[in-house]
Amino acid sequence: MNALTNLLKIRYPIIQGGMGNISNAILTAAVSEAGGLGTIGSGTMTPDEVEEIVKETLRRTDKPFALNVALTVSPYVRDILSLIKKYNIPIVSLSAGNPAPFIPKLHDQGAKVITVCASVKQAKKAEAAGSDVIVAEGYEAAGINSALETTTLVLIPQIINAVNIPVVAAGGIGDGKGLASMLALGASGVQMGTRFIATKEAPFHEKYKQRIIDASDHGTVIVGRTVGKIRRVLATDYARKLLKYEEKGISLDDFNRLTSEEFHRTGALEGKEEEGFMNGGQIAGLIIDIPTVQELIDKIIIDAKGQLEKAYLLFK
Ligand SMILES: Cc1cc2nc3c(=O)[nH]c(=O)nc-3n(C[C@H](O)[C@H](O)[C@H](O)COP(=O)(O)O)c2cc1C
Repeated sequence: MNALTNLLKIRYPIIQGGMGNISNAILTAAVSEAGGLGTIGSGTMTPDEVEEIVKETLRRTDKPFALNVALTVSPYVRDILSLIKKYNIPIVSLSAGNPAPFIPKLHDQGAKVITVCASVKQAKKAEAAGSDVIVAEGYEAAGINSALETTTLVLIPQIINAVNIPVVAAGGIGDGKGLASMLALGASGVQMGTRFIATKEAPFHEKYKQRIIDASDHGTVIVGRTVGKIRRVLATDYARKLLKYEEKGISLDDFNRLTSEEFHRTGALEGKEEEGFMNGGQIAGLIIDIPTVQELIDKIIIDAKGQLEKAYLLFK
Protein backbone atom coordinates (compact mmCIF):
# COMPACT_ATOMS: atom_id res chain seq x y z
CA MET A 1 0.00 0.00 0.00
CA ASN A 2 1.13 3.58 -0.58
CA ALA A 3 -0.43 7.05 -0.38
CA LEU A 4 -2.12 6.58 -3.77
CA THR A 5 -3.58 3.12 -3.25
CA ASN A 6 -4.78 4.12 0.24
CA LEU A 7 -6.44 7.27 -1.01
CA LEU A 8 -8.16 5.67 -4.01
CA LYS A 9 -8.82 2.35 -2.21
CA ILE A 10 -7.22 0.28 -4.97
CA ARG A 11 -4.91 -2.71 -4.73
CA TYR A 12 -2.30 -1.77 -7.34
CA PRO A 13 -0.99 1.69 -8.32
CA ILE A 14 -2.16 1.35 -11.93
CA ILE A 15 -4.75 3.62 -13.54
CA GLN A 16 -6.36 3.15 -16.95
CA GLY A 17 -6.78 6.67 -18.33
CA GLY A 18 -10.01 8.01 -19.86
CA MET A 19 -10.44 7.38 -23.60
CA GLY A 20 -12.82 10.02 -24.91
CA ASN A 21 -15.84 8.78 -26.86
CA ILE A 22 -14.52 5.25 -27.18
CA SER A 23 -14.63 4.85 -23.38
CA ASN A 24 -16.71 1.94 -22.22
CA ALA A 25 -17.82 -0.01 -19.18
CA ILE A 26 -16.16 -3.30 -20.16
CA LEU A 27 -12.57 -2.05 -20.01
CA THR A 28 -13.18 0.27 -17.05
CA ALA A 29 -14.69 -2.53 -14.97
CA ALA A 30 -12.06 -5.07 -16.05
CA VAL A 31 -9.25 -2.79 -14.83
CA SER A 32 -10.95 -2.10 -11.51
CA GLU A 33 -11.75 -5.79 -11.03
CA ALA A 34 -8.07 -6.62 -11.69
CA GLY A 35 -6.98 -4.34 -8.84
CA GLY A 36 -6.24 -1.12 -10.76
CA LEU A 37 -8.42 1.93 -11.29
CA GLY A 38 -10.57 1.94 -14.43
CA THR A 39 -11.65 5.30 -15.82
CA ILE A 40 -14.65 6.23 -17.93
CA GLY A 41 -13.75 9.11 -20.24
CA SER A 42 -16.51 11.39 -21.49
CA GLY A 43 -15.02 13.08 -24.57
CA THR A 44 -17.87 14.90 -26.26
CA MET A 45 -20.51 12.33 -25.27
CA THR A 46 -23.86 13.57 -23.98
CA PRO A 47 -24.64 13.21 -20.26
CA ASP A 48 -27.14 10.45 -21.17
CA GLU A 49 -24.50 8.47 -23.05
CA VAL A 50 -22.02 8.78 -20.18
CA GLU A 51 -24.74 7.85 -17.68
CA GLU A 52 -25.39 4.59 -19.54
CA ILE A 53 -21.68 3.70 -19.30
CA VAL A 54 -21.66 4.57 -15.58
CA LYS A 55 -24.71 2.36 -14.97
CA GLU A 56 -23.17 -0.56 -16.88
CA THR A 57 -19.86 -0.16 -15.03
CA LEU A 58 -21.72 -0.29 -11.71
CA ARG A 59 -23.39 -3.51 -12.86
CA ARG A 60 -19.99 -5.01 -13.71
CA THR A 61 -17.93 -4.03 -10.66
CA ASP A 62 -18.33 -2.92 -7.08
CA LYS A 63 -14.71 -1.72 -6.99
CA PRO A 64 -13.75 1.98 -7.25
CA PHE A 65 -13.57 3.54 -10.71
CA ALA A 66 -13.13 7.10 -11.96
CA LEU A 67 -14.95 9.41 -14.35
CA ASN A 68 -12.76 11.64 -16.53
CA VAL A 69 -13.90 14.95 -17.94
CA ALA A 70 -11.65 16.76 -20.40
CA LEU A 71 -12.76 20.25 -19.40
CA THR A 72 -12.15 22.13 -22.65
CA VAL A 73 -13.34 19.22 -24.79
CA SER A 74 -16.70 18.30 -23.26
CA PRO A 75 -19.62 20.62 -24.06
CA TYR A 76 -21.46 19.21 -21.00
CA VAL A 77 -18.99 19.54 -18.10
CA ARG A 78 -21.48 20.44 -15.33
CA ASP A 79 -24.12 17.93 -16.38
CA ILE A 80 -21.59 15.12 -16.58
CA LEU A 81 -20.12 16.07 -13.20
CA SER A 82 -23.62 15.88 -11.73
CA LEU A 83 -23.36 12.09 -12.27
CA ILE A 84 -20.75 11.99 -9.49
CA LYS A 85 -23.34 12.70 -6.82
CA LYS A 86 -26.15 10.77 -8.48
CA TYR A 87 -24.11 7.53 -8.64
CA ASN A 88 -21.73 8.15 -5.76
CA ILE A 89 -18.71 7.85 -8.07
CA PRO A 90 -15.68 7.96 -5.77
CA ILE A 91 -13.04 9.48 -8.08
CA VAL A 92 -13.06 12.21 -10.74
CA SER A 93 -10.25 12.86 -13.17
CA LEU A 94 -10.11 16.33 -14.71
CA SER A 95 -7.94 17.07 -17.73
CA ALA A 96 -7.42 19.65 -20.49
CA GLY A 97 -8.45 22.69 -18.47
CA ASN A 98 -8.51 24.49 -15.12
CA PRO A 99 -9.92 22.20 -12.40
CA ALA A 100 -10.17 24.92 -9.70
CA PRO A 101 -13.85 25.92 -10.18
CA PHE A 102 -15.00 22.30 -9.82
CA ILE A 103 -12.91 20.87 -6.98
CA PRO A 104 -14.72 22.28 -3.89
CA LYS A 105 -18.12 20.92 -4.99
CA LEU A 106 -16.66 17.53 -5.92
CA HIS A 107 -15.05 17.33 -2.48
CA ASP A 108 -18.37 18.27 -0.82
CA GLN A 109 -19.84 15.31 -2.69
CA GLY A 110 -17.16 13.04 -1.23
CA ALA A 111 -15.18 12.48 -4.43
CA LYS A 112 -11.40 12.45 -4.70
CA VAL A 113 -10.04 14.58 -7.53
CA ILE A 114 -7.22 13.66 -9.89
CA THR A 115 -5.90 16.42 -12.15
CA VAL A 116 -3.97 15.62 -15.32
CA CYS A 117 -1.06 18.08 -15.77
CA ALA A 118 1.80 18.54 -18.22
CA SER A 119 3.90 21.15 -16.38
CA VAL A 120 5.13 22.09 -12.92
CA LYS A 121 3.06 25.28 -13.04
CA GLN A 122 -0.17 23.39 -13.77
CA ALA A 123 0.58 20.84 -11.04
CA LYS A 124 1.21 23.53 -8.41
CA LYS A 125 -2.03 25.28 -9.37
CA ALA A 126 -3.96 22.00 -9.20
CA GLU A 127 -2.52 21.26 -5.74
CA ALA A 128 -3.37 24.78 -4.55
CA ALA A 129 -6.93 24.29 -5.84
CA GLY A 130 -7.27 21.18 -3.66
CA SER A 131 -6.58 18.35 -6.11
CA ASP A 132 -5.87 15.08 -4.29
CA VAL A 133 -3.66 13.48 -6.95
CA ILE A 134 -1.68 14.74 -9.95
CA VAL A 135 -1.38 12.65 -13.07
CA ALA A 136 1.72 14.05 -14.78
CA GLU A 137 1.49 13.22 -18.45
CA GLY A 138 4.48 13.38 -20.76
CA TYR A 139 4.66 13.98 -24.46
CA GLU A 140 4.98 10.25 -25.24
CA ALA A 141 1.30 9.76 -24.43
CA ALA A 142 -1.52 8.90 -26.81
CA GLY A 143 -4.19 11.41 -27.72
CA ILE A 144 -4.39 15.13 -26.98
CA ASN A 145 -1.06 16.34 -25.63
CA SER A 146 0.28 19.56 -24.20
CA ALA A 147 1.95 21.96 -26.63
CA LEU A 148 4.77 22.15 -24.04
CA GLU A 149 6.06 18.80 -25.37
CA THR A 150 7.84 17.79 -22.12
CA THR A 151 8.70 14.09 -21.86
CA THR A 152 7.67 11.84 -18.96
CA LEU A 153 11.23 11.20 -17.80
CA VAL A 154 11.93 14.85 -17.10
CA LEU A 155 8.41 15.91 -16.12
CA ILE A 156 7.82 13.44 -13.29
CA PRO A 157 10.75 14.27 -10.98
CA GLN A 158 10.22 18.00 -11.42
CA ILE A 159 6.53 17.78 -10.54
CA ILE A 160 7.30 15.49 -7.60
CA ASN A 161 9.72 18.09 -6.24
CA ALA A 162 7.11 20.82 -6.61
CA VAL A 163 4.04 19.29 -4.92
CA ASN A 164 3.19 17.37 -1.76
CA ILE A 165 0.40 15.16 -3.08
CA PRO A 166 0.76 11.78 -4.85
CA VAL A 167 1.99 12.05 -8.43
CA VAL A 168 1.05 9.40 -11.00
CA ALA A 169 3.21 9.10 -14.12
CA ALA A 170 1.53 8.88 -17.53
CA GLY A 171 2.89 8.67 -21.05
CA GLY A 172 5.18 5.90 -22.23
CA ILE A 173 4.51 3.22 -19.63
CA GLY A 174 3.59 -0.27 -20.80
CA ASP A 175 5.18 -2.92 -18.59
CA GLY A 176 6.61 -3.78 -15.18
CA LYS A 177 9.92 -2.11 -15.92
CA GLY A 178 8.03 1.06 -16.77
CA LEU A 179 6.14 0.91 -13.47
CA ALA A 180 9.37 0.19 -11.55
CA SER A 181 11.14 3.09 -13.22
CA MET A 182 8.39 5.54 -12.36
CA LEU A 183 8.28 4.34 -8.73
CA ALA A 184 12.07 4.78 -8.63
CA LEU A 185 11.63 8.36 -9.84
CA GLY A 186 9.31 8.96 -6.90
CA ALA A 187 5.92 8.54 -8.57
CA SER A 188 3.17 6.85 -6.56
CA GLY A 189 1.85 4.93 -9.56
CA VAL A 190 1.25 4.97 -13.30
CA GLN A 191 -1.57 5.78 -15.69
CA MET A 192 -1.62 3.92 -19.00
CA GLY A 193 -3.75 4.26 -22.13
CA THR A 194 -2.04 2.67 -25.12
CA ARG A 195 -1.16 -0.59 -23.29
CA PHE A 196 -4.80 -1.13 -22.29
CA ILE A 197 -6.02 -0.88 -25.90
CA ALA A 198 -4.24 -4.14 -26.77
CA THR A 199 -6.10 -6.24 -24.20
CA LYS A 200 -8.68 -8.95 -24.77
CA GLU A 201 -11.48 -7.09 -23.03
CA ALA A 202 -11.00 -3.71 -24.75
CA PRO A 203 -13.98 -3.54 -27.13
CA PHE A 204 -12.06 -1.80 -29.90
CA HIS A 205 -11.62 -2.93 -33.49
CA GLU A 206 -9.11 -5.78 -33.96
CA LYS A 207 -7.27 -3.65 -36.55
CA TYR A 208 -6.65 -0.99 -33.89
CA LYS A 209 -5.13 -3.60 -31.56
CA GLN A 210 -3.09 -5.07 -34.45
CA ARG A 211 -1.74 -1.62 -35.43
CA ILE A 212 -0.50 -1.18 -31.84
CA ILE A 213 1.24 -4.56 -32.03
CA ASP A 214 2.70 -3.81 -35.48
CA ALA A 215 3.98 -0.36 -34.40
CA SER A 216 7.74 0.14 -34.20
CA ASP A 217 9.54 2.58 -31.89
CA HIS A 218 8.59 5.34 -34.32
CA GLY A 219 5.09 4.09 -35.07
CA THR A 220 3.29 7.24 -33.94
CA VAL A 221 3.18 10.81 -35.20
CA ILE A 222 2.13 14.17 -33.83
CA VAL A 223 -0.64 15.82 -35.79
CA GLY A 224 -1.91 19.35 -35.29
CA ARG A 225 1.31 21.20 -34.56
CA THR A 226 0.67 23.71 -37.36
CA VAL A 227 -2.64 24.73 -35.78
CA GLY A 228 -1.44 24.61 -32.16
CA LYS A 229 -3.27 21.37 -31.32
CA ILE A 230 -1.01 18.50 -30.39
CA ARG A 231 -2.34 14.95 -30.72
CA ARG A 232 -0.33 11.72 -30.82
CA VAL A 233 -1.78 9.08 -33.13
CA LEU A 234 -0.67 5.86 -34.78
CA ALA A 235 1.05 6.52 -38.11
CA THR A 236 -1.82 5.28 -40.28
CA ASP A 237 -2.92 6.45 -43.72
CA TYR A 238 -5.41 8.83 -42.09
CA ALA A 239 -2.63 10.37 -39.98
CA ARG A 240 -0.47 10.80 -43.08
CA LYS A 241 -3.41 12.46 -44.83
CA LEU A 242 -3.76 14.92 -41.93
CA LEU A 243 -0.04 15.73 -42.10
CA LYS A 244 -0.34 16.38 -45.86
CA TYR A 245 -3.24 18.78 -45.23
CA GLU A 246 -1.09 20.52 -42.62
CA GLU A 247 1.80 20.83 -45.08
CA LYS A 248 -0.54 22.56 -47.53
CA GLY A 249 -2.00 24.71 -44.74
CA ILE A 250 -5.17 23.65 -42.95
CA SER A 251 -7.43 25.91 -40.88
CA LEU A 252 -7.98 25.19 -37.18
CA ASP A 253 -11.69 24.62 -37.84
CA ASP A 254 -10.97 22.02 -40.53
CA PHE A 255 -8.37 20.30 -38.36
CA ASN A 256 -10.80 20.18 -35.42
CA ARG A 257 -13.48 18.70 -37.67
CA LEU A 258 -11.15 16.01 -39.06
CA THR A 259 -9.96 15.05 -35.57
CA SER A 260 -13.39 15.17 -33.93
CA GLU A 261 -14.60 12.22 -31.89
CA GLU A 262 -16.65 11.03 -34.88
CA PHE A 263 -13.37 10.24 -36.72
CA HIS A 264 -11.94 8.73 -33.53
CA ARG A 265 -14.79 6.23 -33.41
CA THR A 266 -14.45 5.51 -37.15
CA GLY A 267 -10.77 4.58 -36.72
CA ALA A 268 -10.80 2.91 -33.31
CA LEU A 269 -14.18 1.17 -33.26
CA GLU A 270 -14.86 0.54 -36.96
CA GLY A 271 -11.21 -0.10 -37.88
CA LYS A 272 -11.43 2.12 -40.97
CA GLU A 273 -7.81 3.21 -41.02
CA GLU A 274 -8.16 5.52 -44.01
CA GLU A 275 -11.29 7.26 -42.75
CA GLY A 276 -10.58 7.80 -39.07
CA PHE A 277 -7.66 8.17 -36.65
CA MET A 278 -6.32 5.87 -33.95
CA ASN A 279 -4.81 7.48 -30.84
CA GLY A 280 -1.59 5.77 -29.87
CA GLY A 281 1.41 6.49 -27.65
CA GLN A 282 5.09 5.91 -28.36
CA ILE A 283 5.06 2.88 -26.06
CA ALA A 284 3.14 1.04 -28.80
CA GLY A 285 6.58 -0.06 -30.07
CA LEU A 286 7.00 -2.20 -26.95
CA ILE A 287 3.61 -3.91 -27.12
CA ILE A 288 3.57 -7.34 -28.73
CA ASP A 289 0.64 -9.22 -27.25
CA ILE A 290 -3.04 -9.05 -26.35
CA PRO A 291 -3.43 -10.39 -22.80
CA THR A 292 -6.50 -10.14 -20.59
CA VAL A 293 -6.48 -7.11 -18.32
CA GLN A 294 -5.92 -9.37 -15.30
CA GLU A 295 -2.96 -11.12 -16.95
CA LEU A 296 -1.50 -7.75 -17.93
CA ILE A 297 -1.78 -6.19 -14.47
CA ASP A 298 -0.51 -9.32 -12.69
CA LYS A 299 2.53 -9.47 -14.99
CA ILE A 300 3.26 -5.76 -14.58
CA ILE A 301 3.25 -6.16 -10.80
CA ILE A 302 5.47 -9.28 -10.81
CA ASP A 303 7.93 -7.73 -13.28
CA ALA A 304 8.06 -4.40 -11.42
CA LYS A 305 8.81 -6.23 -8.19
CA GLY A 306 11.58 -8.28 -9.87
CA GLN A 307 13.08 -5.19 -11.42
CA LEU A 308 13.09 -3.23 -8.15
CA GLU A 309 14.60 -6.19 -6.27
CA LYS A 310 17.36 -6.45 -8.89
CA ALA A 311 18.11 -2.75 -8.54
CA TYR A 312 18.10 -3.04 -4.74
CA LEU A 313 20.71 -5.84 -4.85
CA LEU A 314 23.05 -3.52 -6.74
CA PHE A 315 23.26 -1.20 -3.75
CA LYS A 316 23.23 -3.80 -0.96
C1 LIG B 1 -7.83 6.23 -27.23
C2 LIG B 1 -7.39 7.21 -26.21
C3 LIG B 1 -8.23 8.24 -25.85
C4 LIG B 1 -7.85 9.13 -24.84
N1 LIG B 1 -8.74 10.09 -24.40
C5 LIG B 1 -8.47 10.79 -23.27
C6 LIG B 1 -9.47 11.59 -22.65
O1 LIG B 1 -10.63 11.66 -23.09
N2 LIG B 1 -9.13 12.29 -21.53
C7 LIG B 1 -7.86 12.24 -21.00
O2 LIG B 1 -7.60 12.89 -19.98
N3 LIG B 1 -6.89 11.47 -21.57
C8 LIG B 1 -7.18 10.74 -22.67
N4 LIG B 1 -6.22 9.89 -23.20
C9 LIG B 1 -4.91 9.77 -22.53
C10 LIG B 1 -4.93 8.57 -21.54
O3 LIG B 1 -5.91 8.73 -20.56
C11 LIG B 1 -3.57 8.35 -20.86
O4 LIG B 1 -3.25 9.41 -19.99
C12 LIG B 1 -2.46 8.20 -21.89
O5 LIG B 1 -2.85 7.30 -22.90
C13 LIG B 1 -1.19 7.70 -21.20
O6 LIG B 1 -0.15 7.54 -22.11
P1 LIG B 1 0.19 6.16 -22.91
O7 LIG B 1 -0.76 6.15 -24.05
O8 LIG B 1 1.60 6.31 -23.30
O9 LIG B 1 -0.07 5.04 -21.95
C14 LIG B 1 -6.57 9.01 -24.23
C15 LIG B 1 -5.70 7.98 -24.64
C16 LIG B 1 -6.11 7.08 -25.61
C17 LIG B 1 -5.19 5.95 -25.97
